[in-house]
Amino acid sequence: MSLAEKYSEEVKAIFTKYPVKRSAVMPMLYLAQRENGFITKEGMAEIATMLELDVTEVASIVGFYTLYHDEKAGKYRMQVCNDLPCALRGADKFLDALCQNLGVKVGETTPDGLVTVEAVMCLAACDKAPMFQLQEGDKVTYHENMTVDRSMELIAALKAGSFGQER
Ligand code: FES
Repeated sequence: MSLAEKYSEEVKAIFTKYPVKRSAVMPMLYLAQRENGFITKEGMAEIATMLELDVTEVASIVGFYTLYHDEKAGKYRMQVCNDLPCALRGADKFLDALCQNLGVKVGETTPDGLVTVEAVMCLAACDKAPMFQLQEGDKVTYHENMTVDRSMELIAALKAGSFGQER
């Protein structure tokens, strides 16, 4: 089913709010991602057609923003910044050790489907590396000055379902 059919009221509301069609690309992508946590090629093509954009323009927006995804992932996405300032504070080493502890490579998901580890560009916390943002659907939390041990404790809490209960 197309986005226009599945979310007809919301699509109408977005178009009302953004009379210049191309300006609606971000909320349309957000809508397209809602159900499965990523945007399919068909979804991007439909958005491109609706907004009179080239599909490569839509795909490049998805590729640029860390909160949009074009592939399925685990329940949580652990997005470690390893851009240069963070790399200078040990982000690459941290990422390697984290992956080793989890038994995955960057971009892979733990066998239990819980966590996908991703490397991303600057998340605006350059002086607090190693750091990552943790995404679960549209919920995002930031974890700064991290160690591998603290990260593994966090993952254990995710597994146990106890993460975030104190908030
Ligand atoms: S370079 Fe990593 S947060 Fe800026």
